[in-house]
Amino acid sequence: MAKVKSKWVCQNCGYESAGYLGKCPECSSWGSFVEEVQSERPINISPQGIVNDCKPSLINDIHVGKEIRVSTGISEFDRILGGGLVQGSIVLIAGDPGIGKSTILLQTSGGLANLGKKVLYVSAEESAGQLKLRADRLGVKSDSIYIYPQTNLESIKSQIEELSPDMVVIDSIQAIYSQTIQSSAGSVSQIRECCNILMQIAKTKNITVLVIGHVTKDGNIAGPKVLEHMVDTVISFEGDKYKSYRMLRSMKNRFGNTSEVGIFEMGSNGLKEVINPNQLFLNERSQENIPGTAIIVTNEGTRPLLVEIQALVGATPYPSPRRVANGVDFGRLLQILAVLEKRVGLNLSKQDVYVNVMGGIEVDEPSADLGIALAIATCARDVVVDSQTVIIGEIGLSGEIHPVNNLEKMLNEASMTGFKKAIIPYANKDITHPKIKTVPVKRLIDAIGACISPEGNK
Ligand SMILES: Nc1ncnc2c1ncn2[C@@H]1O[C@H](COP(=O)(O)OP(=O)(O)OP(=O)(O)O)[C@@H](O)[C@H]1O
Ligand SMILES: [Mg+2]
Repeated sequence: MAKVKSKWVCQNCGYESAGYLGKCPECSSWGSFVEEVQSERPINISPQGIVNDCKPSLINDIHVGKEIRVSTGISEFDRILGGGLVQGSIVLIAGDPGIGKSTILLQTSGGLANLGKKVLYVSAEESAGQLKLRADRLGVKSDSIYIYPQTNLESIKSQIEELSPDMVVIDSIQAIYSQTIQSSAGSVSQIRECCNILMQIAKTKNITVLVIGHVTKDGNIAGPKVLEHMVDTVISFEGDKYKSYRMLRSMKNRFGNTSEVGIFEMGSNGLKEVINPNQLFLNERSQENIPGTAIIVTNEGTRPLLVEIQALVGATPYPSPRRVANGVDFGRLLQILAVLEKRVGLNLSKQDVYVNVMGGIEVDEPSADLGIALAIATCARDVVVDSQTVIIGEIGLSGEIHPVNNLEKMLNEASMTGFKKAIIPYANKDITHPKIKTVPVKRLIDAIGACISPEGNK
């Protein structure tokens, strides 16, 4: 019988202590320590399921077969995973409530079942009936998908042993509990222990385990940070719940790169891959030239994406003017405003400035600076940026335009979407495109002059 020990764990960050602490030394939260009783693991097995009494071997003497990848049936999802699910790996999919985590994993279950794989879908949050309704809506039909409404990890483990599926879905890690830990489901210790056991199952039985995780209010994956270290792949599911598009982004991948992003549209039949995402983000755009709008190209992973930046500048009724940034880093906006005032001579000290990235996208790339600055400048001067022009460039503090990476791909994408002209950094002047007229600029003030359409301006 395993020995039982007790410890105090901060429910905020997972910091462990032998006794109660009023304030957590790690995350400084007060009153967050809860006592947890835990049975000890046999000492020759590590939390990762690695047997500790094996001997070191020479790397050249280690023989492994090629990793086996299985397609999920959703090509965008396969691409983010680095070419499909690696057999025996454990993948964490984290996202906001209602974003579509269960939907994508049920669709994936359907895809795998179509390839003749056996799937065990453990539903710890919804009844079998609810899952069946969703499966009917998504058109997922198969006699090799088993739905198991269960929250007890020991029961889940015994069902995995009995059914020996190829893939197990845990929906969600926060809702399951292990009897060996005497704290409630969703606590830091429970999440860590359950993930440990699932990982041992994945590695020892060569079963692919897909785990759904919730995110906290501030957007972090709920549970200890160690959860992200334990799993092989972390996929974040993002997007605006009130809009139909969703983004899958790889945050960590032991079997592929982490720069890939997949774009989907949520409909009544589930998530569909978006073949031309630019259409999705630009189709609401007014075709007329309006002061205060500029199109930038942002790199979402390795994929360039065209997005519209909108700015509104107007006299403020308040003693200190307001600055509002949606989808753009606030500090970055203040820096751009300071450069516009000092280097271009635009007086914004009595003006409110609002900047919004259309489509609910977060733009964090420096190459978006120039587009943001031009949207603000054109709105302030009531002139327009030519609607056929894309703006690419990073702004330095003295108003100079710095070169950007990946420009060739950005121009290709802009050309495919029908743009005819691009304002680019002077240092990138050697990069040209047969269908796009590139205008290299050295300074922000030159860019303002170069992109304003003569016919649209007063
Ligand atoms: N009939 C429908 N037509 C279109 N979209 C729907 C329909 N039903 C549900 N949805 C979409 O599916 C989303 C819910 O998907 P799902 O249950 O997979 O999310 P989840 O991330 O698993 O949520 P939770 O965190 O609650 O488990 C809804 O927010 C909605 O966008
Ligand atoms: Mg769900």
